[in-house]
Amino acid sequence: MDETESQIAAALTALAAAANAAQLEAWRIQFMGTKAIKDLMAPLAAAPKEQKRELGQKLNAAKLQLQEGFDKRKSEIEKSGVRPVAFDVSEPGRRPAVGNKHPLTKVIEELTELFSRMGFAVAGGPEVEDEFHNFVALNIPESHPARDPLDNFYLSGDGVGADKSLLLRTQTSTVQIRIMETQRPPIRVVIPGRVFRPDTHDATHLSMFHQLEALVVDRHVTMVDLKSTIHQFVKAYFGENTRLRLRPSFFPFTEPSAEVDVWFPDKQKWIELGGCGMVHPNVFKACGIDSEEYSGWAFGFGIERIAMRKYGVSDIRNFVENDLRFLRQF
Ligand code: DAH
Repeated sequence: MDETESQIAAALTALAAAANAAQLEAWRIQFMGTKAIKDLMAPLAAAPKEQKRELGQKLNAAKLQLQEGFDKRKSEIEKSGVRPVAFDVSEPGRRPAVGNKHPLTKVIEELTELFSRMGFAVAGGPEVEDEFHNFVALNIPESHPARDPLDNFYLSGDGVGADKSLLLRTQTSTVQIRIMETQRPPIRVVIPGRVFRPDTHDATHLSMFHQLEALVVDRHVTMVDLKSTIHQFVKAYFGENTRLRLRPSFFPFTEPSAEVDVWFPDKQKWIELGGCGMVHPNVFKACGIDSEEYSGWAFGFGIERIAMRKYGVSDIRNFVENDLRFLRQF
């Protein structure tokens, strides 16, 4: 066996011992790398001219033997499934990103839960409304400024005249009508929902926001029931010592009417939650309920306002900016 043959024999022995891809690669560099091949071919340069042809063929055959041996061993290793360890099983796992509920979703759930415990059912209604439910049945006459096309998102009609024009509802009071059209007293219901107004956005206004409407209709319902329910709600939700005030006000669909404020310690001022009052006889009339037999109260509070007071948020726009630094706090 000459020197080339013994080199090849040693290389093939080492190749058989390579047990995985990493060892195979080390073998390839050692025996088939640029330097190894140069060494293998070195006798050719030194050989006498007449021997070159024969020696060249022999050395090329040796090289081919290495290549074939390598290819064969490589496919054996691949088939055997012995691979370098792809991951460290002892490493801690990657934690999947888990989101959380939007603060307004959370507040709506808290409010409906609280009012459920006070015996209220929960209802909903359409966000696209007609003028009858948004205005007419709520005793808001055609001449009322609230029906101005500039103050509403009308979807059809010109917003002047026809009761059939469609608009995005401006208040959840619409659902009071839908409930009284289809249900008879006793009624005790809260309605959370989205409302729309073409208002310029600032720290306390959005053009789309949420309201929580409440409606109670029964025999002998008085303003005392209204006031004590709001008191109970405010104390249960914001805390026992929360300051509350009702200011006389006007709404076409209630008589008498009041506005409800709670003290906002973070800003050292009152924050207006919304309006309330005793259901107006004309509203009962539009729904076919006898106002001599039944009376009722209602309120409509801004849910963003409630959330602001509850969680000390001083700018309503935080709720719609999708800033995770804000949203993750809830
Ligand atoms: N719908 C009124 C608004 O959006 C709020 C309101 C006031 C609702 C008095 C009521 C109510 O149910 O009785 O401004």
